[in-house]
Amino acid sequence: MGVVLRPRAPVRRGWEAVPFSCNIPLMRGCSPDHGMLRFLTIEGGDGSGKSYQIRLLDEYLDARQVPRLLTREPGDTPLGKELRRLLLERGSQSLCQEAELFMILADRAQHVREVVRPALEQGKLVVSDRFADSTLTYQGYGRGMDLDLLRRLNHEATGGTMPDLTIVLDCPVEVALARAAERPDPRSAREDRFEAEGVAFQRRVRDGFLKLAEADPERYRVVDSEGPVEATQEQVRRILDERLGGYSAPGG
Ligand code: TYD
Repeated sequence: MGVVLRPRAPVRRGWEAVPFSCNIPLMRGCSPDHGMLRFLTIEGGDGSGKSYQIRLLDEYLDARQVPRLLTREPGDTPLGKELRRLLLERGSQSLCQEAELFMILADRAQHVREVVRPALEQGKLVVSDRFADSTLTYQGYGRGMDLDLLRRLNHEATGGTMPDLTIVLDCPVEVALARAAERPDPRSAREDRFEAEGVAFQRRVRDGFLKLAEADPERYRVVDSEGPVEATQEQVRRILDERLGGYSAPGG
């Protein structure tokens, strides 16, 4: 038994706690308010602008006083931080793709149980910078690993906890890689193993995201992130507006 937040009826605007009896593992769409946004993932290739867009999105959710948790993969648990370092450092080039995959899945399994589900149970909107779709695109489309196998392994790692909505930030690979190279973030000097994979790999990743989105338009929304950050954010907010509907601050 847990609690979810849903918008009050129009005359009593704001959030209210509502008991729900959906047993963990939480499955997409199994909440009593089918279609309500509880778990949002932001995906895209390297340099697609995810981190900055999520920062702007956080300001927007803050203004709307939406209870939320921002998180990311890999690396948002103590175990994940260790795995992230091992996965992303350029010095780990010799990591074989199977070892890479199992480290990513270990990070996800821990992340879901330690971070994502507890926040969902508290009725928060969870916003994750990358999730299971990055495995399908990077390890699947990018590295050529079997997509059905990856889907099965993702299912084991997530225990069925999947996003209600996935926003894919899409941008031409050349533009994205140029942006990634210019990142003022000091971690980029060390953490660039995937960016170092080159243009052909990044193209397969981009195509992978577009294919996933095309196959399931109900869950995915593709946002063009090539233009100015404000224009991209406007598109993101428009999508969120649709999905958050009449939500407003408690007592607002
Ligand atoms: P991230 O730090 O989010 O990179 P960026 O800020 O450039 O988007 O993610 C780190 C890298 O990990 C990214 O290049 C993609 C890779 N990755 C996978 O290959 N598979 C996965 O399942 C995940 C979650 C990430």
